[in-house]
Amino acid sequence: MKKLFVKTYGCQMNAYDSAKMADLLAPLGYAATDVPEGADMVILNTCHIRERAAEKVYSELGRLKQMKAAKAKDGGQMLLAVAGCVAQAEGQEIVARAPQVDLVVGPQSYHRLPEMIARAARSQGHVLETDFPALEKFDSLNAPQSSGISAFLTVQEGCDKFCTFCVVPYTRGSEHSRPPQAIVTEARQLAEKGAREIVLLGQNVNAYDCDGWGLAKLCEAIGEIEGIKRIRYTTSHPRDMGDDLIAAHGGNPKLMPYLHLPVQSGSDAVLEAMNRQHKADDYRRLVERIRAARSDIALTSDFIVGFPGESDADFEATLGLVRDIGYATAFSFKYSKRPGTPASTMRKQIPEDVKAARLDALQKLLLSQQYAFDDSQVGKVLPVLFEKTARETGQIMGRTPYLQPVHVKTDAAHISQVADVRIERRTANSLHGVLA
Ligand code: 5AD
Ligand code: SF4
Repeated sequence: MKKLFVKTYGCQMNAYDSAKMADLLAPLGYAATDVPEGADMVILNTCHIRERAAEKVYSELGRLKQMKAAKAKDGGQMLLAVAGCVAQAEGQEIVARAPQVDLVVGPQSYHRLPEMIARAARSQGHVLETDFPALEKFDSLNAPQSSGISAFLTVQEGCDKFCTFCVVPYTRGSEHSRPPQAIVTEARQLAEKGAREIVLLGQNVNAYDCDGWGLAKLCEAIGEIEGIKRIRYTTSHPRDMGDDLIAAHGGNPKLMPYLHLPVQSGSDAVLEAMNRQHKADDYRRLVERIRAARSDIALTSDFIVGFPGESDADFEATLGLVRDIGYATAFSFKYSKRPGTPASTMRKQIPEDVKAARLDALQKLLLSQQYAFDDSQVGKVLPVLFEKTARETGQIMGRTPYLQPVHVKTDAAHISQVADVRIERRTANSLHGVLA
């Protein structure tokens, strides 16, 4: 796990955005930490309302500069990002005054953080994103300069779904898929730089559609690249989960048994108000079909509680769906108004205390499922792709096919390789085992 420290200034919206950024980075292997010291990534999510907001940010950046230098001395890298309204307002000025900053990201561009991080990590240069992004920015990406064991590759952007709570279709525009040749070329370059796992990224990644290629075909082509042992993709929409992609989970051995498939709610009334365009039972049936192709697949989801009009019975339906499906892990959020979205002006907004209580209940259930899933691996032998040395000396860290982090006391020579590990125990955030 990489460590992510997010400092949030200002409003509820920023608090929500920070959580969203943390969740956005979770599939990339970032886990939240309480202190900036030693973090792999620090995000200052700034607010421009207070007096002297920018000055406070610059003084914080001064302190972080020292920590970044200390981390570099140890051979590590601390990525420094300024997000939020100060980022939007100051833009280029930030990297001019504080060159230690790697990323400047305006509130319209958080969804681009995964790829911005990849770019910053590759180029070691500043990455700024405070404009509305250009459509063809993919063309301006250089060949990757370096790669981690697990590498991210954007294949698709934007969204045509218009869920009523979501800003993405307005900020990102419509769905746009990158040509398969460009993607395969970049995957090959990443493999040459040491990538053993490719994570295909897109807001609606399973809507990928270009030159007659769907995501299943793309995964197949990438799986043929020498050195690539594992493929993952995120995030998927239930409506775009095609037969060929489902079949690929049974037939493509490189495609990992892990699927982030957000459902948001288990209530048909709420799903309708969200404009998700499917019912809870459609999702249940879809999961059945996916599990028929790959019975051990680990499923994860996003949930929103307290969507306008959500009744106690609606919320119970969400808990019911979670119980029926059984998730390996999941992200859950309190509904928060996004200006300009239809849901923000819906009547029957849910009181904060009700949202908080529902979120608490949902998260307890999801956490118990996560522990049950992790516990179910104890005693098994699983193939683990080792990514890096762990914090504790003598240990290395890798991931199971189900994306669970695993710590093993063994030689760092195993890093970048897949090895069988007998899982011995689970701690709160990780599995521990020995080479089998
Ligand atoms: N309020 C709460 N959560 C939201 N999400 C998107 N928009 C909102 C909102 N207005 C959540 C959804 C989505 C995830 C990326 O963020 O669950 O899947
Ligand atoms: Fe599109 Fe996902 Fe936002 Fe819905 S939640 S509008 S599918 S990006």
